[in-house]
Amino acid sequence: MPQSDTLTITDNRTGKTYDIPISQGTIKAIDLRQIKTGDDDFGLMTYDPAFMNTASCRSAITFIDGDKGILEYRGYPIEQLAEKSTYLETAYLLLFGELPNESQLNEWTHNITYHTILNEKLKVVLDAFRYNAHPMGKFISTVSALGTLYPESKNIFDNECRQKQIQRLIAKVITIAAFGYRHMVGMPYAYPDNDLSYPANFLNMMYKTTETKYVPDPKLVHALDVLLILHADHEQNCSTSTMRVVGSSHADPYSALAAAAAALYGPLHGGANEEVIRMLTEIGSVQNVPAFIKKVKGGEGVRLMGFGHRVYKNYDPRAKIIKQVAYEVFEVTGKNPLLDIALELERIALEDEYFVKRRLYPNVDFYSGLIYQAMKFPMDMFPVLFAIGRTSGWLAQWQEMLMDPDQKISRPRQVFIGPSRREFVPMEERK
Ligand code: ACO
Repeated sequence: MPQSDTLTITDNRTGKTYDIPISQGTIKAIDLRQIKTGDDDFGLMTYDPAFMNTASCRSAITFIDGDKGILEYRGYPIEQLAEKSTYLETAYLLLFGELPNESQLNEWTHNITYHTILNEKLKVVLDAFRYNAHPMGKFISTVSALGTLYPESKNIFDNECRQKQIQRLIAKVITIAAFGYRHMVGMPYAYPDNDLSYPANFLNMMYKTTETKYVPDPKLVHALDVLLILHADHEQNCSTSTMRVVGSSHADPYSALAAAAAALYGPLHGGANEEVIRMLTEIGSVQNVPAFIKKVKGGEGVRLMGFGHRVYKNYDPRAKIIKQVAYEVFEVTGKNPLLDIALELERIALEDEYFVKRRLYPNVDFYSGLIYQAMKFPMDMFPVLFAIGRTSGWLAQWQEMLMDPDQKISRPRQVFIGPSRREFVPMEERK
């Protein structure tokens, strides 16, 4: 009798039977390699484009149950963190595995705050961009350039050195993002103010003009802090997987994080909130919503941006929290005129068979763009805001990958479907 925690596979090509161990709901893909038809057979592989059913790592950071709409960081429900924590405290939790005690939090906050300043040379990097360069392109390039200032950062297995780079990156991404914005609008760069909290300091560097002291509205600071918490990690998504893949070659964390940010930039990932605003603007009024829904259902390749998720097939718990935050922000800024269109879209889509059948619900991006727009962030800045929050998650996942003895340089296999060997054809013989 085979053991109960195994999978018995019969290869009908050979009639041979194999017992493959099952551990934590998975089999090891490498265990399939022994299944061969003969000595010159490479062995069986799995074919899994887009990693739809492949666990690439074992992780203790973020838990998601997509069917139940659960998101937890290190076991703490996202709803509790959004209500009771701050972004910096949550970042500590993601990175170190436990909530900090008071002195740990004070030290952590101090270290992040006192690393927000940028080397002046990076301003030259930013100045080299054209005035209308996309802030995400500037963010990616500047993070990469930042790494060149710290050549010691390649010592990724030196804990003290690694912690220093983690602090630098979390601290400096707000300065890089804000400087990128000010370059875009032609305003002088505003320097960090160490009296302010992390989100308040970011708003200070974004919007300070001639006042001696910039004091952001506490409700907006709180909203931004919650948004950063909600975006801080989301297990093995496209950009986090990129962080791990690039990091697996033992690249320095700045290069890996720049690559992760590049992955985030795509409209199917972190670029979606920008696309939501474009879509709502294009729809233009509540009356046009049914016609737009018809277009989406018509199979013309039009998607309802901000809807659907690879993992959440019930609801995205972040979307619920964000909707609440949106109303708090609108109390300060006035209602975003696109809100009514968004609410009507949501109402119709949640009742419509097309969306219900495909289990498409609002995701984190459906309302976040409306909040950012109300807070006067230009649309181009939306993915940058996402990248700021996700920086702590990327770094936590990167660090976990480095410490994991199961991990090696990332290198998937392929199923080759090209031509078999043939002789080079001279130019005069080509058709
Ligand atoms: N609008 C209309 N139809 C959709 C949408 C949508 N937003 N999303 C999925 N569908 C449909 C697909 O056309 C497909 O229909 P079919 O079965 O008739 O072919 C079905 O639902 C399944 O869609 P897939 O693309 O296979 O689902 P997948 O899990 O690969 O995609 C994704 C997830 C990329 C998020 C998708 O839902 C999408 O493109 N949404 C819009 C973009 C978006 O909001 N992205 C942000 C995601 S959250 C984040 O990254 C933070």
